[in-house]
Amino acid sequence: MVDQKSKSVITLEEYIIQSQNKFPGAKGELSQLLRDIGLAAKIISREVNKAGITNILGEDGSTNVHGESVKKLDLFADEQLISALNRSEITCMVISEENDGIVDLDNDGGKYIVYLDPLDGSSNIDVNVSIGSIFSIYLRKNTSTKKLSEDDALQPGLQQVAAGYVLYGSSTLMAYTTGVGVSLFTLDPSIGEFILSNDDIKIPDYGSIYSVNEGNYKSWPEGLKKYVKYCQEVDDETNRPYSARYIGAMVADVHRTLMKGGIFIYPDSQEYPNGKLRLMYECNPLSMIIEQAGGMAIDGNGRVMEITPESIHQRTPIFIGSKQNVMKVKEFLDEHK
Ligand code: AHG
Ligand code: MN
Ligand code: MN
Ligand code: MN
Repeated sequence: MVDQKSKSVITLEEYIIQSQNKFPGAKGELSQLLRDIGLAAKIISREVNKAGITNILGEDGSTNVHGESVKKLDLFADEQLISALNRSEITCMVISEENDGIVDLDNDGGKYIVYLDPLDGSSNIDVNVSIGSIFSIYLRKNTSTKKLSEDDALQPGLQQVAAGYVLYGSSTLMAYTTGVGVSLFTLDPSIGEFILSNDDIKIPDYGSIYSVNEGNYKSWPEGLKKYVKYCQEVDDETNRPYSARYIGAMVADVHRTLMKGGIFIYPDSQEYPNGKLRLMYECNPLSMIIEQAGGMAIDGNGRVMEITPESIHQRTPIFIGSKQNVMKVKEFLDEHK
C-alpha cells in the first residue's frame, strides 16, 4: 500500500515512482512506459472531450483487419499511443487492433511489447457514450533473434507484466495493475494530472448486474440462455432479478463490473463462432485487472489468461466479473454442454 496519509493528492507519476522504489534494482523502464501511456491518455481525453466541435467524429473511410469501419478517433488514439510509446526506447513493438501486423518501433534494445485497443467501444463515439483505451504489456520473449516477429508476442495472458485501461466517461479514469493489485486514478483536467483515487481496488464477490447483448440470444449456447433466465427469476435471497446493463464498450461494462460487481459476457455466437472480443488486447488485459481485483475471467471452460494464443488478433468468448457470478454461469454452461 502506498503511504496516502502524508499526502492528500498523489499523482500517477508520483505513485509509479513510489511503487517502483519498492522493487530495488528496478531500472524504471516499466514506470516510464506507464507514464508514456498516461501522457497519451491525456491527449486522447482532450480530443474525446471536444470531439463534437472538431471534425474528429465519424468514419475514416477505411476498414481494419476485422472488417470494421475505422473511426477517425480510432486512428487518432492509435497514433497518439504509438508515438508516446516511441518516446523512450523501451518498447520494441506494438500490436494494435488498428494495425494488421506488428508495428516494429526499431528500438532493438526495447524489452517490452505493448498490445493496444486504442479506442474500445468506437460505435459509442458519435453518440457521446463512454469509450476507452486498453493496454497489455509483455516482456519480449527471445531477445536473441534480431528480427522481431509475431511469435515474440504470442504469449499467454499469464505472462503479462502489466495491463490496464483508460475510460473516457463522465470523468477520465485510468486503472492499471503490475500484478500486485489494481490502482485507479482520475484525471483532474484543471491541472492535467491523473490523481490516485484507489490504490488497491477489489471487485465485490457477488453482484446483481448482468451485462450481455441480448440481441444475440438466438445463437447463444443453451447454458447461457438458462443462466440469463436464472438472472431474471425472482429470489430475494440472491437479490434476483438482477439488473441488465449494457453500455456496448467492453472497457466501460467491465469497469462498472469492477466497481459494482456482477458479470459481463460476450459468448460465441452465430456471427462470431469464437466470440467477438479479441484475446490479446481486450480479454487478457481486462482479465488481469479483474483477477488482480479478486474476480474471475473464463472463456466458458478455463481461465482466459491461460489460453495459448495462435494469432495476434484472435477472438475468444469471455465471462468476466465477480467470482460467485462467474462460477454460477459456469455451472449452467457445464450442465448444458
Ligand atoms: P472496438 O470498438 O474496440 O472494436 O470494440 C468493440 C467491442 C467491445 O467494446 C464491446 O463490448 C463490443 O464490441 C460490443 O459488441 P456488440 O455491439 O456486438 O454488442
Ligand atoms: Mn474496432
Ligand atoms: Mn475493443
Ligand atoms: Mn477498438
